[in-house]
Amino acid sequence: MSNLCHIAFIMDGNGRWAQRKGKKRSDGHRAGADTMQDIVNICFDKGIKHVTVYALSTENFIQRPKDEIDELLVLVRQHLKHSSKHFNRLLNKGIKVEFLGDLTVFDNEILDTIKKVRQDTLDCSNGQFNIALNYGSRDEIINAVNLCVDSNTKVTQESFNRYLYTKNIPDPDLIIRTGGDIRLSNFLLYQAAYSELYFSNTLWPDFSKKELDDIISNYSSRKRNFGSV
Ligand code: IPE
Ligand code: IPE
Ligand code: MG
Repeated sequence: MSNLCHIAFIMDGNGRWAQRKGKKRSDGHRAGADTMQDIVNICFDKGIKHVTVYALSTENFIQRPKDEIDELLVLVRQHLKHSSKHFNRLLNKGIKVEFLGDLTVFDNEILDTIKKVRQDTLDCSNGQFNIALNYGSRDEIINAVNLCVDSNTKVTQESFNRYLYTKNIPDPDLIIRTGGDIRLSNFLLYQAAYSELYFSNTLWPDFSKKELDDIISNYSSRKRNFGSV
């Protein structure tokens, strides 16, 4: 099988899932968070070292109603608090948790959770769970460019990588987007230069282990050239 070191998910379709069931969008996000727990754990059980989830984009943060953002952030806190099943499963597996994005916009409650999770998993080395929160590739790249300018040294691909939110994280091998739309929506644009992309019509809360297995099997059959013959 082609090496699968880093898998990333654009978890789209929570709102439509809820709408189709006559529920509130927040119910869709809740169901989506449960799916995320299961899928992320399955990925680590498969031996995948890096799992990244797109939980909130810079555009979501600006453009969605405050209530919806607040509900999403409550879910993030619930899933990362010490008593949560999800957090304990990650801790027991020795998984480090990291956050990608501009975190300066968040209030102390969420920042304290992030700080604690980072501290508690700092020495974990069996895998890494990356949560993209208020993440946008354009923001990330502009931020990196400014850091480069401040450093006053010639920029190389290597040094530029160190200024990205994804420093120390290998580029994604496979990016899966659910929800039926065929776009990246400002996710890992620089890092996805040679990623394999997979688009599924399934709405994220319905995404299953079976579909993940099928996609990974499809990925394994692809030939990755990286520009070679
Ligand atoms: C993705 O689901 C989750 C976030 C963007 C936070 P959506 O909320 O975008 O769901 P749809 O696309 O409206 O169905
Ligand atoms: C992408 O979904 C962002 C996340 C999954 C967090 P969106 O629903 O925000 O994407 P667009 O707006 O349809 O492109
Ligand atoms: Mg969407």
